[in-house]
Amino acid sequence: MTPDLKQFIASHSRRVNQLLERSLPARIPGGERLLEAMAYSLLGAGKRVRPILSYAGAHAVDGDMQTPLLDAAACALECMHAYSLIHDDLPAMDDDDLRRGVPTCHIAFDEATAILAGDALQCLAFETLFNSEAVAVRVVAVARELARASGATGMVAGQAIDLGAVDTVPTLEVMERMHVHKTGALIEAAVIMGALSVGTEDARTLRALRSYAKAVGLSFQVRDDILDVTAETATLGKRQGADQQRNKPTYVSLLGLDGAVQKARQLHEHALDSLSDFGASADILRDLSAYIIQRGA
Ligand code: IPE
Ligand code: IPE
Ligand code: MG
Ligand code: MG
Ligand code: MG
Repeated sequence: MTPDLKQFIASHSRRVNQLLERSLPARIPGGERLLEAMAYSLLGAGKRVRPILSYAGAHAVDGDMQTPLLDAAACALECMHAYSLIHDDLPAMDDDDLRRGVPTCHIAFDEATAILAGDALQCLAFETLFNSEAVAVRVVAVARELARASGATGMVAGQAIDLGAVDTVPTLEVMERMHVHKTGALIEAAVIMGALSVGTEDARTLRALRSYAKAVGLSFQVRDDILDVTAETATLGKRQGADQQRNKPTYVSLLGLDGAVQKARQLHEHALDSLSDFGASADILRDLSAYIIQRGA
């Protein structure tokens, strides 16, 4: 990791962590357990990749990094992500008991509380955007991007394809569609939301960022598939080998380990090509793409 990226990640994850703490309701009378579960999953030891990508998207377009809507977008992305992880781990879905090095939400609490915590975090994502002091049209553009990426045209569709693919050997085309939706969509939205929140309207700029972010969104899940095979449970913070155990098709099961590594490299090249019109302001995005295909957790 380059020193600049290391510094960018450290300062922006600190920033979003402080904001996330403040974004939760101070108290929920009668719903103390719900609030505890929300905090448990939202504030846990995640990498904060999506918020960081939104800050990096704003940085790439030389946006004002103090824009309140940018902070709101970063928070909203992590709320949406945290909700998706809680539901992804449920017995009816991946049935996982370990996440970020601690018991999953439904194990630490109970299934019903975990479902509700996920539901509430999803709404909190949008509430955070609507509460930000920003021009309404900009808020709408950012919220629309998040909604599209998260629902039946994005992540939720990907999760449905994922569940339907268990015990099958999908074509590469189906595998790509699954990954692009379940993980790629929110990552794509992260970069775009960052740029939109600081007022980017230029179609060519947004197109280039989208092309970058699509490649990185897919490479992120390809790396996740690789780590399921190669990493240790202690480093990952989730059970190594969970995909294999559940007979989930992955890029590794389809292409082999070397094939998956090569696919991630190609996507990184594509991500870099997409940014060819950008100067040094996009170096953080370039470095993030490199980090995402090499990360160890
Ligand atoms: C895990 O995401 C789920 C996927 C979409 C692959 P992350 O690897 O970003 O998880 P955290 O937030 O760092 O725990
Ligand atoms: C996660 O994919 C996609 C989500 C929308 C959460 P995975 O099921 O591979 O994520 P992990 O490996 O459990 O983090
Ligand atoms: Mg899953
Ligand atoms: Mg999972
Ligand atoms: Mg996985």
